[in-house]
Amino acid sequence: MMPIQAVIGDVCRLVLLLVILSACSPPLAAAEDPSLIVSRFREYLRINTAQPKPNYREAVDFILAQARSISLEAKSFEIVDGKPFVILKWPGTNPRLPSVMLYSHTDVVPVEQSKWDHPPFEAHVDEEGRIFARGSQDMKCVGMQHLEAVRQLKRSGFEPIRTLYVVFSPDEEIGGHDGAEKFADSEAFREMNVGVVLDEGLASPNEKYRVFYGERVPWWLVIKATGAPGHGAKLYDNTALENLFKSIETIWRFRTSQFDMVKAGLKAEGEVVSVNMVFLKAGTPSPTGFVMNLQPSEAEAGFDIRIPPTADHKSLERRLAEEWAPIWRNMTFEFKQKASVYNQHGEPVITATDSSNPWWALLEEGIRKANGLVGKPEIFPASTDARYFRLLGLPAIGFSPMANTPILLHDHNEYLDQAEYLKGIKVFESIIKTYTSFVGDSSKESLRDEL
Ligand SMILES: *[C@@H]1O[C@H](CO)[C@@H](O)[C@H](O)[C@H]1NC(C)=O
Repeated sequence: MMPIQAVIGDVCRLVLLLVILSACSPPLAAAEDPSLIVSRFREYLRINTAQPKPNYREAVDFILAQARSISLEAKSFEIVDGKPFVILKWPGTNPRLPSVMLYSHTDVVPVEQSKWDHPPFEAHVDEEGRIFARGSQDMKCVGMQHLEAVRQLKRSGFEPIRTLYVVFSPDEEIGGHDGAEKFADSEAFREMNVGVVLDEGLASPNEKYRVFYGERVPWWLVIKATGAPGHGAKLYDNTALENLFKSIETIWRFRTSQFDMVKAGLKAEGEVVSVNMVFLKAGTPSPTGFVMNLQPSEAEAGFDIRIPPTADHKSLERRLAEEWAPIWRNMTFEFKQKASVYNQHGEPVITATDSSNPWWALLEEGIRKANGLVGKPEIFPASTDARYFRLLGLPAIGFSPMANTPILLHDHNEYLDQAEYLKGIKVFESIIKTYTSFVGDSSKESLRDEL
């Protein structure tokens, strides 16, 4: 007969062992073979959705099949013909709370095939585990990570309190006018009662993930100079080209002052006004090129200017009228595009990063819980679809979980390391848990709706 204490001791040990075992490998959450997860990503990358002729049909079919395999409610629809959206829904236990929307675009930018070491739509994996493909960073990785995170959470038995939407949209790479812009204004979007949006960010060359709370807006400026035409041999003042070049010199000094602040580490790229000359147009055409002994009466230059929402754009407009294209120098200007830095309420189009926006702290918490590091909030240097949701006054955060990765979006040989991709799925699992379990502040949210 065993002493009773020994029996109790054995039972305790057995219970302890079972607890440890179940903690190590909960039966529902048995980890999936990572190579399967990566192979699904590669399958998505192989669908050629490059502008200007993206194969949206195939992408939609693929996403719908993925949704079926994890029993997610799914629907696909077009607002503009041939430009489909897919919306996947994971209903929360409290559908009255505003929902969480994870957003990605399915299209990618074109490639110069010959400049790639591996074909851009084969998703080749090299010995180091790098997956080469157009869209591997921008942003098919994020769309698939959203889906894979949901897949893992469903397997683990997790139940969201808030409803979660995973949205795939068309046309971001050509401005989103037939995509996100119309979607943000649609009944379908209003019915989703979205409380927060996660959209794309950028890769980070260091160990800290980058997070974006706003973006610069494009001002596409054309300045035009006129002047008396004359013989190419004659020296005289105020030719069209002389007038234009005075402006270009001034603009260039401004460009240098902005760039110097970035180079000195005083400001981030998204915090300065960038100015780049994109065309120069002058001269009198001849059958063999240009007339060489004639000074033209007109000259033009085009600039892509990007303004941070926090910049003093009034002073910039003054600078433009007084120095860049002054009427007294016989200059005129026009904007090919001039986006507003304000929303309809007259506020800068940015997402708050302080305590007035609980979603910011929750995002950082979610990332930290997955052992990720977060950099300081940034302004996205170019445009993303997030602006259409920010314009509605919704919090929208740009985040693509790619640390220790060179920034290769729109570049040749775009790639993402498969280990980094898999890590990103864990990060999104953690964020989804944090976001969809958040019930506080619902009074504040409904207040926003009433305002
Ligand atoms: C502007 O145009 C007027 C009229 O042609 C001319 O008299 C004047 O010198 C020009 N000024 C400059 C700065 O080009």
